[in-house]
Amino acid sequence: MMGQRQHVVLLIFSAFLLFQTSNAHNVTRLLAKHPSLSTFNHYLTLTHLAPEINRRTTITVLALDNAAMSSLLDKNPSIYTIKNILSLHVLLDYFGAKKLHQIRNGTALAATMFQATGVATGVSGFVNITDFKGGKVGFGAEDNGGSLNSFFVKSVEELPYNISVIQISKALPSVVAEAPTPGPSELNITGIMSAHGCKVFADTLLANPEAMGTYEDNVNGGLTVFCPMDDPFKAFLPKYKNLTASKKASFLEFFGVPVYQSLSMLKSNNGLMNTLATDGASKFDFTVQNEGEEVTLKTRVNTAKITGTLIDEQPVAIYTIDKVLLPKELFKAALSPAPAPAPEEAADAPKGSKSKTKSKSKTKSKAAPTPDSDSPAESPDDDPADQVADDDNAAMCFGAERLAVVGLSFLLVFFLL
Ligand SMILES: *[C@@H]1O[C@H](CO)[C@@H](O)[C@H](O)[C@H]1NC(C)=O
Ligand SMILES: *[C@@H]1O[C@H](CO)[C@@H](O)[C@H](O)[C@H]1NC(C)=O
Ligand SMILES: *[C@@H]1O[C@H](CO)[C@@H](O)[C@H](O)[C@H]1NC(C)=O
Ligand SMILES: *[C@@H]1O[C@H](CO)[C@@H](O)[C@H](O)[C@H]1NC(C)=O
Ligand SMILES: *[C@@H]1O[C@H](CO)[C@@H](O)[C@H](O)[C@H]1NC(C)=O
Ligand SMILES: *[C@@H]1O[C@H](CO)[C@@H](O)[C@H](O)[C@H]1NC(C)=O
Repeated sequence: MMGQRQHVVLLIFSAFLLFQTSNAHNVTRLLAKHPSLSTFNHYLTLTHLAPEINRRTTITVLALDNAAMSSLLDKNPSIYTIKNILSLHVLLDYFGAKKLHQIRNGTALAATMFQATGVATGVSGFVNITDFKGGKVGFGAEDNGGSLNSFFVKSVEELPYNISVIQISKALPSVVAEAPTPGPSELNITGIMSAHGCKVFADTLLANPEAMGTYEDNVNGGLTVFCPMDDPFKAFLPKYKNLTASKKASFLEFFGVPVYQSLSMLKSNNGLMNTLATDGASKFDFTVQNEGEEVTLKTRVNTAKITGTLIDEQPVAIYTIDKVLLPKELFKAALSPAPAPAPEEAADAPKGSKSKTKSKSKTKSKAAPTPDSDSPAESPDDDPADQVADDDNAAMCFGAERLAVVGLSFLLVFFLL
């Protein structure tokens, strides 16, 4: 009898675990219980800091009440500046009320999400926490000349050791965080790419005024870039150089999408995506798929995986990808016929004519089964056909696994009833 009960308890527990696995914290929901923090909560959403906070664990959010937020907003900071200021209020360590009052030696420096953005320089981006006499805890930005004039008010929510939300009396002033932040039109997208592992792609883009102009035209209205990392793009350069001028432009434009897509949007909106190179019948599109936490981009030729986020701030997002994604309009899958695309065509065909007629005929020629050793798809670093097949298998395995888990959960629930 006893043994059976234990068994049932165990089953309840495992069922609970199964349903809990994706149950990370949601700062928006935590703060929604506290109307006095509603402005702060609203701005965490507007600045897209909320999903970044939800992604992390072992963090502390220094929340401001509506009065403290309105004195911050009185200065009319841009949304980008607000994001910097608020990200200074997210500490990358867990400080519950208890730990705050028991800081060893009475003082500590905490790194913040602002410091992690790379915008902060030197010690700016660190927050000094100091325990004072009488149980007061003071906070100050480290670039603030040592003044600690914001104080602990109360603990709001604590989920040890994932997230602690504590209220402090006013915004932490910081020269660097409050500095006016450039709006998107002043954003140097190639500069951002160059500084973070996509220099070869950025330089190639800069050397192509037509494609570069297309990217720049879209920065204000919404732009998502998937830039291939330096190693794969460098290896690909000889094949790139073989393309005609108009194909070079289309190829580069293929890595941009004329809408802003945050990582969470990409994860929840799988499917076909048009690109800056899409031009009527000449599709130049790819398919976004996610498998668990991974987001992949897929064409009929190969598949690339998102490996990092360089910037994700409405209206611009730039991600790195681990391979040079190849548009089917310019490259063939490994075992298809594929006369090398470049030589077959007069150089510098005007953009319009290029796409419609030629790409159509090429798509047809793909059906013929003669392999061609000159096919540009046979880049040294990937075997596109295998690649696609592997991914399909992976997707199927994943699907089966998920099905098994779901089935198991149903079984458990059934058993409990
Ligand atoms: C902390 O996060 C983990 C993983 O997301 C979760 O399993 C756990 O229940 C969370 N802890 C609390 C106290 O919420
Ligand atoms: C977090 O909670 C808010 C409000 O309940 C909800 O709108 C949002 O979708 C949640 N986010 C996630 C990632 O679950
Ligand atoms: C605390 O102070 C002592 C003596 O001043 C020092 O040796 C120690 O490193 C300090 N500990 C921390 C965590 O700062
Ligand atoms: C924090 O600031 C106080 C006051 O300026 C200073 O005495 C203390 O050394 C600082 N703490 C750290 C860890 O830098
Ligand atoms: C953008 O960044 C690149 C690379 O760092 C640099 O060469 C270029 O001058 C910058 N452009 C502007 C307008 O600042
Ligand atoms: C470039 O095109 C030429 C002429 O068709 C071909 O011989 C060469 O192999 C191609 N190079 C690459 C790297 O694809």
